[in-house]
Amino acid sequence: MRERIERDGPLGFPEFMATALYQPSLGYYARETRQVGRGGDFFTSVSVGPLFGELLARRFLREWRESGSPARWRIIECGAHDGTLAADILGAISRLDPQAFAALEYAIPEPLPRLQAAQRETLRGFHGKWRFIAEASELHADPLPGVAFGNELLDALPFHVVEWTNGGWRECKVEAAPDGDFVWQAHHEITSPALLDALAPLGNGFPENYRTEVRTNFRDCLEPLVRSLSSGLLLWPDYGFARPDYYHPDRKTGTLRTFSKHRAAENPLATPGEIDITAHVDFTAVAETAIRLGCQPVAFSSQGSWLTGQARSWLLAQEGNPDAAALRQFQTLTHPAHLGGSFHVLELSWNQPAAPIIPPEIWHRLGISQP
Ligand SMILES: C[S@@+](CC[C@H](N)C(=O)[O-])C[C@H]1O[C@@H](n2cnc3c(N)ncnc32)[C@H](O)[C@@H]1O
Repeated sequence: MRERIERDGPLGFPEFMATALYQPSLGYYARETRQVGRGGDFFTSVSVGPLFGELLARRFLREWRESGSPARWRIIECGAHDGTLAADILGAISRLDPQAFAALEYAIPEPLPRLQAAQRETLRGFHGKWRFIAEASELHADPLPGVAFGNELLDALPFHVVEWTNGGWRECKVEAAPDGDFVWQAHHEITSPALLDALAPLGNGFPENYRTEVRTNFRDCLEPLVRSLSSGLLLWPDYGFARPDYYHPDRKTGTLRTFSKHRAAENPLATPGEIDITAHVDFTAVAETAIRLGCQPVAFSSQGSWLTGQARSWLLAQEGNPDAAALRQFQTLTHPAHLGGSFHVLELSWNQPAAPIIPPEIWHRLGISQP
């Protein structure tokens, strides 16, 4: 990166972040697979236990049944990491509905060899049921009904860092200091049409030096997925907000965070390759991108209320015969003070034969005027 900066000038933060996280030999996610969980750098809903996968599996099975129980269907999991969630989902589907399991193919777009190796190991009991794809476009010749999803995938997508100065947005880029450290260089004029388009809906009048993040890559993420499904559902659990909350004038330093050994910090330029870099998700921007691709937002709620909705029959089955460990997982996943409040779930329907009924409050929660 230093050589690139010397040759081409300051690096945009998306390029810096993509290199720091995903460079095939030195990137944070390329080097090892122990980032998630107690011995790693951060927890996700997957680290809580297999219940999260089971509740997702219940939602996916409902989708399969509502689309007429097709003889072939597909789940595409993005950001499958070491394969734990895939194993939880495949295990639950095989137990809950053997017919749906027989009809299912599970595809994991995964370019990083270390993660592929970990997935192969975790999923060895599901031989023939799942496969890697280098990218979703490999499925475009054979679209099937089904589901595409990623848990904490969108927050890991690279983003631009921008600052409001003198009545307008400027981009913050990465420069190499004489001592070799990476440092921020603010005040770059913004000329990229994609970034200008992404900034336009944020409005004006932010406090001086208000710093935040903006992604321009949601379309690149979603489009190959919808083209891999003839119809179905896209589902995104992640931490984030609708646009009015995200770009609230009081949120003056944005949501950019780094994680290392369960400690959050805010300097993403130190020790690239050794720390996670993330920012919250603007769910309004995701929904707007999906609408432009022809999808419909059908649910947007806190993870707590979304999972509670999926868990109805599971909770009923607990009566009289409670599974204490699983109930503890349910509480951690849904309690507003744990993962239930800070995480949200966005569901998007794609090409459904019967137009989905969209509750009016979805538009309100997403900050989009109802079309
Ligand atoms: C925060 S981790 C979440 C891991 C896992 N889904 C979980 O919930 O425990 C983000 C994961 O997304 C993966 N990732 C990021 N961008 C990706 C992309 N464009 N395609 C596939 N995986 C991606 C990373 O390699 C990493 O494994």
